[in-house]
Amino acid sequence: MLFDLARPLLFLLDAEVAHELVLPSARLAHRFGLSGLPGGPLPGRQVNAMGLAFPNPVGLAAGFDKNAAFLRLFAAFGFGFLEIGTVTPRPQPGNPKPRLFRIAAARALINRMGFNNCGIARFVENVRRARYDGILGINIGKNAATPIERAADDYVACMQAVYPLASYIAVNISSPNTKDLRELQRGTALEGLLDALGRERRSLARKHNRRVPIAVKIAPDLEDDAIPAIAERFLAHEVDAIIATNATVSRAGLAGLPHADEAGGLTGAPLRARATEVVRRLAAALQGAIPIIGVGGILSGADALERIDAGASLVQLYTGLVYRGPALVREAVAAIEPQAARMAA
Ligand SMILES: Cc1cc2nc3c(=O)[nH]c(=O)nc-3n(C[C@H](O)[C@H](O)[C@H](O)COP(=O)(O)O)c2cc1C
Repeated sequence: MLFDLARPLLFLLDAEVAHELVLPSARLAHRFGLSGLPGGPLPGRQVNAMGLAFPNPVGLAAGFDKNAAFLRLFAAFGFGFLEIGTVTPRPQPGNPKPRLFRIAAARALINRMGFNNCGIARFVENVRRARYDGILGINIGKNAATPIERAADDYVACMQAVYPLASYIAVNISSPNTKDLRELQRGTALEGLLDALGRERRSLARKHNRRVPIAVKIAPDLEDDAIPAIAERFLAHEVDAIIATNATVSRAGLAGLPHADEAGGLTGAPLRARATEVVRRLAAALQGAIPIIGVGGILSGADALERIDAGASLVQLYTGLVYRGPALVREAVAAIEPQAARMAA
């Protein structure tokens, strides 16, 4: 409701300025009981995945809360789980602004944020302070200055720091905005990274007496025949889930629209069909061996259900929240499990 009133004004502002205004304001409104948000996870279809019990299958996608600064606010949206980050070992400013663009006519965003974040030490403090007790995915990455051959060092450092706090750890090798990052999706670079993460997890599991699931997030721009191949490597390395997908470098469907030629990753409605197709191909390859978290272009309840029907166990939202506001969470939860959600309404 509040969001519906504010949106026309917010859309007059630069996209990143609007983003920076809206979250602190919503947090303040929520503290004073004025947000009208559900307050906690909406009842819906309960899903067991990665050894975790999700109260509903709709989650926040990575990148909205990069610094773990708004955990309690997002928890109040009604999500069944939150994924925060991407966080890197050292703080970094990201790319120069402007770096986030709205393409409202296509219900899309282009971003080239470049992992702007406060660094792992601050991030861990923020998570501890929030005392959020729902399902928390922590998405980890590498610093821009770390050469790609040393990438595993950064992922391992982040894994060590977040291990005791994460319900699952999401490994981001698919952002289009960090040079060469997507090279980690293939060949010896992928093997080396999965080996390093597997080894480190075995050691951390002994130390903490808990095996934290690892989910790997992939790009929609992988060629079709690379999809079963990467799924096979994930299974061989005991990866626990696949998050599909990140933003695309394609510009299909944007011809002639303002900002269409900005560099970065495209998200929102134009990504929907390809993200669903990737889920379908993954599901065919995996045959239920590990769960798929479907993300990309979910802007309605029907879109969420389509992703589940394609083979995802869970879904995540980002751009849909910008265009639809928090009401999209309830709509997606209800579409996936109409009966349970109607009873709660
Ligand atoms: C501004 C912005 C920042 C993002 N930052 C991250 C990030 O830090 N890590 C990540 O894994 N994905 C990031 N994403 C990708 C989203 O998590 C999601 O995979 C993508 O936006 C597709 O979903 P959507 O169409 O619902 O937005 C970002 C997306 C946007 C729009």
